[in-house]
Amino acid sequence: MDQDEPKYGTYTDLKTEERLLIDAAAAAMKTAYSPYSKFSVGAALLTKDGEIVEGSNVENAAYGSTICAERAALLAANAKGKRNFVAMAIITKPEGGQTETPAAPCGACRQMLFEASQVGGSDIKILLSNTKKDKILITSVRKILPLAFGPADLGVDISKYSKG
Ligand code: THU
Repeated sequence: MDQDEPKYGTYTDLKTEERLLIDAAAAAMKTAYSPYSKFSVGAALLTKDGEIVEGSNVENAAYGSTICAERAALLAANAKGKRNFVAMAIITKPEGGQTETPAAPCGACRQMLFEASQVGGSDIKILLSNTKKDKILITSVRKILPLAFGPADLGVDISKYSKG
């Protein structure tokens, strides 16, 4: 086995709260608008006050205008006045098939998740699931975005923007 191969778990290894979050992401994945890539992504955020906020990818004929599921969830949460998060679950599915290995967030989403972790004042757990939920990786924003650029680099204190 590759030395850097992450240690995957299964759905049954998870706590109830984590399973619920993956189920919410899977439900959100069904709302994906992805006529171009035909790749559906669902994301679900668990807020510090126990709410779940979902997002899915929304594509555009001008491909660059596409919004990923993770950022859609972050924006939906912000619109609900929620900026403090404990965890995010992400699940993916190609049309007519399934992902064997969980996909990890793109760079732009990692950057926005890092901002959220800074506003919230704590790292955010990331649960990545393949389509069938039988291969799950638990990681965190800090782990998937080392040496991140953030508010501290600009000397900005964002703590007063924390809410929800
Ligand atoms: N996508 C996400 O929603 N999240 C990611 O982190 C990676 C990619 C979406 C964008 C696009 O709609 C499709 O997956 C293929 O790139």
